[in-house]
Amino acid sequence: MNEVIELLKKHRSIRKYKPTPIPESDLEQILLAGQAASTSSNIQAYSVVAVTDPERKRKFAELAGNQQQIVESPVFLVWCADLNKIRIAANLHEDVELHQNVEQFLLGTIDATLAAQNATIAAESLGYGMVYIGGIRNNPQGVTDLLALPPLVYPVFGMCVGVPDQEPDIRPRLPLAAVYHKEVYKEEGLISEIKAYDETTRVYYATRKGGGKGGDQETKWSREMLRRFKSDRLRGHLHDFLVGQGFKLR
Ligand SMILES: Cc1cc2nc3c(=O)[nH]c(=O)nc-3n(C[C@H](O)[C@H](O)[C@H](O)COP(=O)(O)O)c2cc1C
Repeated sequence: MNEVIELLKKHRSIRKYKPTPIPESDLEQILLAGQAASTSSNIQAYSVVAVTDPERKRKFAELAGNQQQIVESPVFLVWCADLNKIRIAANLHEDVELHQNVEQFLLGTIDATLAAQNATIAAESLGYGMVYIGGIRNNPQGVTDLLALPPLVYPVFGMCVGVPDQEPDIRPRLPLAAVYHKEVYKEEGLISEIKAYDETTRVYYATRKGGGKGGDQETKWSREMLRRFKSDRLRGHLHDFLVGQGFKLR
C-alpha cells in the first residue's frame, strides 16, 4: 500500500467540528484539487458555493432536516451542477438555447460529484474531516433561493468541512465480492455476501465509538435498504424542481 491508498481507506464522515476556521489558502488548495478531477469532455459543468456566515449556515441546517453539523462546520460547501456557464460560453458565439436531455443533466451531476470527491481527499490529506449533505435536496428550492442560483444550476449536495472534533470508527463496506464482477455481472453469491455484511454491520453498530447508533441496537444493512427504498418519502419533488430550474429530463 502507499500513503494515498492508506488515506482513502481511512475515510469516515465527520459530524462534529472544532470551531477552528479553515484558512482561505487551504480552502483554495482543496478546491483546486477538486478542479483537477476528470470532467466530461472538459466541460466542467459545476460550481461550488462556500457558506461561512453563521446565520446562513443555520438556515441551510434547517433546510437539510436540522443537521447540526452544518452550523458547527466552519465552511459549508454546496456543490452544484451548472449548465448556466455552458450556456454563457456557447452564447458568446450564437444566441441559442442549449440542447438538453437527461445526458446533460447527468454530465453536470457527475462532474460536480467527481470534483467534490477529489476535494474531499485533498481536505482529508490536510487533516480536515467532512461529510456530504444530501439533506439539502429535502428543500432544493429553499437552497436555490438562499444561494441565488440562476436557472440551469441545481444544488447536488452540500459538504461540511472542518477540523474533526470526534474520532468515529471507519464504517465497514460490503465485501469486495458484492461489488466486483469479472467480465459479466453475476448475481450468484450476492445473498450470502449481503448476509455476511449484515452481520458485519450489526457488530459494528453494537461496538462502534464516536458516532450515533451505539449500544446494542441491531442494525442490518439489508433491513435499512428496505426501510429506505420502500418509503414514499424519496424526495419525489426533485423532478418538478429540476424542470423548474430549466433542466430537460427527457
Ligand atoms: C451524496 C451523499 C449524501 C449524503 N448525505 C448525508 C447527509 O445529509 N447527512 C449525513 O449525516 N450524512 C450524509 N452522507 C454521509 C453518508 O451517510 C456516509 O458517507 C455513509 O454512511 C458512509 O459512511 P462514511 O462516510 O463514514 O464511510 C452522505 C453521503 C453521500 C455520498
